[in-house]
Amino acid sequence: MTLPIWWRTDPTQPVRIGPRELPGRIWTASGCFAYGLSGHDIRSLDVGSPYAGIGAVVTKTVTPQPRSGNPMPRLVELEHGAINSIGLENVGHAEFVEAVLPALEERGVPTVVSLAATRPDEFGPMCERLAEVGRGFVHWHGVELNLSCPNVAEGGHDFGSSPATVAECVAAARPHLPDRLLIAKLTPNVAQIAPLAAAAAEAGCDAIAAINTVLGLDIDLETGQPVLPRRFGGYSGPAIRPIALAKCDEIIRQVGVPVIGIGGIETADDALRFFALGCAAVQVGTAQMRDPFAAARMAAALRPDAATT
Ligand SMILES: Cc1cc2nc3c(=O)[nH]c(=O)nc-3n(C[C@H](O)[C@H](O)[C@H](O)COP(=O)(O)O)c2cc1C
Repeated sequence: MTLPIWWRTDPTQPVRIGPRELPGRIWTASGCFAYGLSGHDIRSLDVGSPYAGIGAVVTKTVTPQPRSGNPMPRLVELEHGAINSIGLENVGHAEFVEAVLPALEERGVPTVVSLAATRPDEFGPMCERLAEVGRGFVHWHGVELNLSCPNVAEGGHDFGSSPATVAECVAAARPHLPDRLLIAKLTPNVAQIAPLAAAAAEAGCDAIAAINTVLGLDIDLETGQPVLPRRFGGYSGPAIRPIALAKCDEIIRQVGVPVIGIGGIETADDALRFFALGCAAVQVGTAQMRDPFAAARMAAALRPDAATT
């Protein structure tokens, strides 16, 4: 591909966000690359590895207790994206911290741990324990607070729509992570996102990740029923990219905090659109589920020296 003349950044070079230097600007999004423990060798930097040139893997969201998730079907492909209601299936914080985080560190996977809770005060103990176990880890960069999951009946949905609650969550996590990156991931399902981003920044987060999925519903015409047993789900993929760009733009223009752009990024060109707005990094979600090498390919394609390949 030919890169635009304004693009001179190598996204596979280190980038400083908050207190950390991460190895690149193209990351994988939470829930779309499991915990980041694939069988591939992280040290292999050719494009045969899904980690090649990747700045971080944001893990599947981890909650205080294990969760088995919502009934099937919980991920349905639509014409221009996908709708899901996974229900935060995960191994729970204790097992994650004891087994998964050390394995990620040992393999050298640049990691951001995604956390969700049902009450703001649960973030404090989760971050404290992560910091205890992760003390001295060099590949664990920080935490992304998932304040926006529209799929979980108790809690998640409301966290992200109230500036006061967003601030409470960030304030609960911050003291335990003095030297780690703290990101607040916001929902797009609000009229204005800037007040939420401002509340998170004032409470001490280092960056905002935007956006999580867009609240949606689809109908199966054969049955006349919603395609998901829980009716609503989170819509993701290429159709939401203009929504994501608008939300990122609102935050960048109104709040002086680094933004990590997410939403419908399928190609290197899509990633460039977020960088053109001023995003510090981007995350690849749904595209990564279809092709686990999607983010690595984008990183390779956006290197200035790849312009003619
Ligand atoms: C199947 C699936 C599972 C997801 N799980 C999570 C999750 O556990 N935590 C989270 O913060 N976001 C989760 N997301 C949202 C993505 O991280 C991302 O914010 C969203 O899908 C928009 O990006 P995309 O259009 O590139 O997929 C999930 C998305 C999908 C499609």
